[in-house]
Amino acid sequence: MSKVVENAEILSNRSLSSEVSELILKSPEVAGQAEPGQFVMVKNEAGNTFLRRPFGVADVDGDKLTLIYRLAGKGTKELAELKAGSFLSVEGPLGHGFKLPVDSQAHICDEKGCGMRTVDAGLSLVIGGGVGIAPIIYTARKLAEAGKKPVVLLGTRNASEGFWTEYFKDFAEEIFVTTDDGSAGMKGFAIDAIPEIMKKHDIKHILVCGPTIMMEGIAKKAINDGIDCQVSLEKRMACGIGVCLGCTFEGKKSKKRWKICGDGPVFAAEEVFD
Ligand code: FES
Repeated sequence: MSKVVENAEILSNRSLSSEVSELILKSPEVAGQAEPGQFVMVKNEAGNTFLRRPFGVADVDGDKLTLIYRLAGKGTKELAELKAGSFLSVEGPLGHGFKLPVDSQAHICDEKGCGMRTVDAGLSLVIGGGVGIAPIIYTARKLAEAGKKPVVLLGTRNASEGFWTEYFKDFAEEIFVTTDDGSAGMKGFAIDAIPEIMKKHDIKHILVCGPTIMMEGIAKKAINDGIDCQVSLEKRMACGIGVCLGCTFEGKKSKKRWKICGDGPVFAAEEVFD
């Protein structure tokens, strides 16, 4: 897999809510290689304020690359004004994404002899919070395509963010929604829905992307319960290619110095939280 820089045509750029927009690019080279949980650096060559900046890959469908972004400053507001037919420079795919628990090889001895055999990896729970829901769309799609539809948990602020569920309808075993104010789904935070989900489904893996506080609670619970958990870290990335060292942290378990942009953004929960 190699990184490319591609001049990608905007196929559509639409508002999903007053704060969140969806951008679909024709980007065959990047889309052809992107894995769930990876990201791209995007630059508007024609713009004034918009430096190359990171966006998680939200979805891939053929040569179409979907990015979903929160309007949070001059750059993203400038991005939201771009019309279909304009072009953006897209660099990627970058980083290491989720290791999808599809099938795993296990060393199992049986009457016929000793050998490697494929065993069922078990059910996954994919969790997204806020705009961190975006990267788990492609994650759910790839799991579903491998015959392992995941259970999906979406942590949102209120019913105005109901648009997220539409993305998962074909890829989820079941969708759970929490809202901070109880205007849709269960009232509370994503972590509050986990006991109910665990009661209903035999979850073996958790893949999560969202605000640090949300991921911390979920990761600690998973570690405590002995459930395999991967977290996708969101941090401001200046270069995105391992040069500026602005995104490093020390692994809790390995004590290694990791770069979120190059070694992540997805890590085993034990490396990030304890
Ligand atoms: Fe520059 Fe990671 S963003 S090293």
